Amino acid sequence: MEHHATLVLRNRSIARDYHELLFAWPDGLPPPRPGQFLTIRVVEAAMPLLRRPFAVSSFDARSRTAGIIYQRRGPATTLLAAADAGDMLDMLVPLGNWFPEPEPEMKVVLAAGGIGMGPIFYFARELRLAGGEPLLVLGARGVAHLPAEDLLDGLDANVCTDDGSRGFPGTVLDYIEHSGIGKGERCVIYGCGPTPMLAAVAAFARERQLPFWVSMEQTMGCAVGACMGCAIPVHGPARYARVCTEGPVFDAREIVWTSH
Ligand SMILES: Cc1cc2nc3c(=O)[nH]c(=O)nc-3n(C[C@H](O)[C@H](O)[C@H](O)COP(=O)(O)OP(=O)(O)OC[C@H]3O[C@@H](n4cnc5c(N)ncnc54)[C@H](O)[C@@H]3O)c2cc1C
Ligand code: FES
Repeated sequence: MEHHATLVLRNRSIARDYHELLFAWPDGLPPPRPGQFLTIRVVEAAMPLLRRPFAVSSFDARSRTAGIIYQRRGPATTLLAAADAGDMLDMLVPLGNWFPEPEPEMKVVLAAGGIGMGPIFYFARELRLAGGEPLLVLGARGVAHLPAEDLLDGLDANVCTDDGSRGFPGTVLDYIEHSGIGKGERCVIYGCGPTPMLAAVAAFARERQLPFWVSMEQTMGCAVGACMGCAIPVHGPARYARVCTEGPVFDAREIVWTSH
């Protein structure tokens, strides 16, 4: 992990409150792995003081362009939304572990919701580049929160909306249950999104005895393992795991879902 001054190439709105920021991947760094994240210090000023974590949502090996998809929700992301092509951003990159590769012949299901869409889109593209055909299920509150069409190009995404305004009416889990996933076939699920969505899919996966890998997007402090600000409860003697260093990707069975 290293500090880099990175060049912003594009920053655009892609849905209500959602943006995609493309930047030049620092020279000399190996490509990011799907699930890995970076932190950005959006301004040199005192506030907002803390670096903010974002998962990598794309990487183009030829142009060495990487991206993040982020939701504008507070001071840092509001400032980030104002960044322009040509601006420089202070990034700490790459951070964290990544999604483990699926076993050959296993059906791969990718579950994405809200701010979790970025890492899942990147993983879906990498799996397709390797010849796989993952089933991508993308959940959103409504059509206004769905990303620009070009971000879904070639991903064969199955869209679900809570209000039924586009695609399947219901949640990501409703879709997974409705389509009979995991019945009589070897299957692995990967997910990133709001904790209630991940907890629901974790319960489903446990019941069906399916492996489920989750990328957790916990609020963070230092992002380098020093403050315990990102700790989540886990089973076992350690009782807590740091999302920034032990994660962000975990086997869903390790996490104590009911207490956070
Ligand atoms: C490993 C990791 C990867 C992430 N990847 C992405 C990503 O790809 N895209 C993206 O949009 N966001 C991502 N996040 C969350 C992102 O870091 C926060 O949304 C961001 O820090 C908010 O900063 P802010 O100053 O704009 O808002 P803040 O003022 O920090 O927060 C605004 C509101 O959002 C809530 N909030 C802040 N962070 C989170 C969180 N992680 N989960 C739930 N609620 C939160 C706060 O409680 C507050 O109510 C990721 C977080 C982690 C740990
Ligand atoms: S954010 Fe400080 S230990 Fe993870």
